[in-house]
Amino acid sequence: MDFAVFTRVDATLEPKLRQLLVRHREAARGVDWSYASLLPWEQGRDLQRVPWTPQQRRLSEPMYVAVETALLTEANLPWFTTALDGMFRGSLTVLHDFLRAWTAEEDQHSDLLQTYLLLTRNGEAEHLHRLRHEVMEQGFEGEYQTPIEMMVCTTIQELATRAFYQSVAGAGAEQDPALARILLRLARDETLHYTFYRDVIAAHLQADPNYVWPIARVLRDFNMPGRGMPDFRSRMRMIANHAGYGPCEYYHQVVETLVRHWRIAQLQPTLAGAIEARYQILAHRDRLGRLAQRIAAGRSTALA
Ligand SMILES: [Fe+2]
Ligand SMILES: [Fe+2]
Repeated sequence: MDFAVFTRVDATLEPKLRQLLVRHREAARGVDWSYASLLPWEQGRDLQRVPWTPQQRRLSEPMYVAVETALLTEANLPWFTTALDGMFRGSLTVLHDFLRAWTAEEDQHSDLLQTYLLLTRNGEAEHLHRLRHEVMEQGFEGEYQTPIEMMVCTTIQELATRAFYQSVAGAGAEQDPALARILLRLARDETLHYTFYRDVIAAHLQADPNYVWPIARVLRDFNMPGRGMPDFRSRMRMIANHAGYGPCEYYHQVVETLVRHWRIAQLQPTLAGAIEARYQILAHRDRLGRLAQRIAAGRSTALA
């Protein structure tokens, strides 16, 4: 058997995947979708009568950049849906059913962040609309051409987004508790989405540990989907240094978490390529662990 076999959805797992969708719908039913109640409406002022000035921004530059970066990433949702929809064509209908639920839930995220920025005058409408237009016009081409690789990638993205929101909420709570509440709320949605995709992959690994094969390349080459936006690298550097989310958080809250959950160390694949892939994942995890350790040591020296 070759690599291609393990990039396709195992159709015999359909009942299990249905169960995961039912579980998702039940969890989503328990969620309070009244996002509007999270917004600090009392801060709203007439933009015509009181035009925006840079002095009205109260968030620090890194915290503003973190929220703007998240907004621009979320705004690209139509393209993520397009990519996933194309990838699932001809595959199980349960994946399309989930995709529609996922899109409806994700659709709220960029609106909530944008309304927050405009309402609190941390963001300027014209600048945001221009950037948003620029990012969306670029579209998004998924790097992976198979459903399993795409779902591994989406699992990592959802978990990384959750970690991002949680970490930035922690770093920004003092500057604006309302912002922290919004970010933690978004993190909850990302958790539900992460859980579905994570468990689709876990079901495949349980059915055949050789499904570890496609995970290696995706994990080793992983990039956040917003990298096409202007100044992406300098944004990420600033957020890592001053807004709470960087390589240390990525290692502890994303890579370590996934390697543990998918029990990569305990898997016993039988095909040479899959055996090698398992080894590569663990080596990659260890490499990121050492990097995280070095960064943490640098931080504590800087604080000393
Ligand atoms: Fe989102
Ligand atoms: Fe998400």
